[in-house]
Amino acid sequence: MSGSALFDTYARAPLAFERGEGCWMITDTGERYLDFGAGIAVNALGHAHPHLVAALTEQAGKLWHVSNLYEVPGQRRLGERLVASTFADRVFFTNSGAEAIEGAIKTARRYHFVNGHPERFGVITFEGAFHGRTLATIAAGGQQKYLEGFGPKAAGFDQVPFDDIDAVEKLIGPETAAIMLEPVQGEGGIRAFPTQSLKRLRELCDKHGLLLIFDEVQCGVGRTGKLFAYEWSGVTPDIMAVAKGIGGGFPMAAVLATEEAASAMTPGVHGTTFGGNPLAMAVGNAVLDVLLADGFLDDVARKALLMKQGLAAIADEFPDVIQEIRGAGLMLGVKCKVSNAAFNAALREHKLLAVPAGDNVVRLLPALTITDADIREGLDRIRAAAASMSTQHAAAN
Ligand SMILES: Cc1ncc(COP(=O)(O)O)c(C=O)c1O
Repeated sequence: MSGSALFDTYARAPLAFERGEGCWMITDTGERYLDFGAGIAVNALGHAHPHLVAALTEQAGKLWHVSNLYEVPGQRRLGERLVASTFADRVFFTNSGAEAIEGAIKTARRYHFVNGHPERFGVITFEGAFHGRTLATIAAGGQQKYLEGFGPKAAGFDQVPFDDIDAVEKLIGPETAAIMLEPVQGEGGIRAFPTQSLKRLRELCDKHGLLLIFDEVQCGVGRTGKLFAYEWSGVTPDIMAVAKGIGGGFPMAAVLATEEAASAMTPGVHGTTFGGNPLAMAVGNAVLDVLLADGFLDDVARKALLMKQGLAAIADEFPDVIQEIRGAGLMLGVKCKVSNAAFNAALREHKLLAVPAGDNVVRLLPALTITDADIREGLDRIRAAAASMSTQHAAAN
């Protein structure tokens, strides 16, 4: 697709998809691919889910956009439902993950400003993090490859090695406002923070009057088998960014916060034109209808086990290709011994779509609605891809 009118920012695979059905995507030439990437954890309910299609088309015939100058009933409803299902008391809707992270950072800084501490604007983050591509979120993510060439790094972001809580403790100073992390790093290679670390971070925040921000843009919305990943640890944040799966493919995101943390976000201090528009809210509410239905998340956890066991067996069979299987729920990482890019390409050869990540990992993030049959089919393709890369296998044959 290169050589087109588009910015050349993506190394796109030479594939164009025309339609999707559940976990399958069909190209313009009719080839069927099993989608274990779900648009990088976005299509949480698969492609063309009838409930989402109905919600979107019904709203499309009524009203698309009114701006936040007026009440948006769907926004109020989705906000109340998110509050009822999480630690949060307040919600602010945005369009993308990066905007939700920006909103989270602004909420934290403004909280300290209004409480008499304008000097407290620093945010401590962890190596391997990915928080988005805006100027503030690349500073928060701290990855040189994303910062290079974009001027001075935005002030107020300091990073410590992954899961190094002692380093966090040492870094906390009079200017620190918040600690921010993904409970399970996505782009960083499906790396989960141990519960004990999250507990220590909560204690440090409480001790020093800091706000704990969770980035659940990728690991949230049922991905790990709970509605939000923080639930596994019992540790609650003060502020959380949510995106991707919450819109099931429709661009939308949200900042969730406790009453206290959100208390400084008063009229006029923050805003968005598109955030929370009626189309997005109709889809977001429809996504929650499915996710919150009795037994849905239990079934995600059951299927996740099926998938993890299958992957573990493949890893045992091809130790020269796969080092380990990691992750929770349907957010799984295959840590490769071969190059992850090469393994991802082999998967695509076998018509299975996955997503490379840092730490030489390939991410598997299928729709939460995946069937047992599609899991088995996917495992067969992953096994075949691993076999095609295994020297042992080549020698044996
Ligand atoms: C954990 C995390 N945070 C933030 C973002 C940024 O979201 P967006 O691309 O919607 O701006 C991403 C995107 O991949 C992400 O995975």
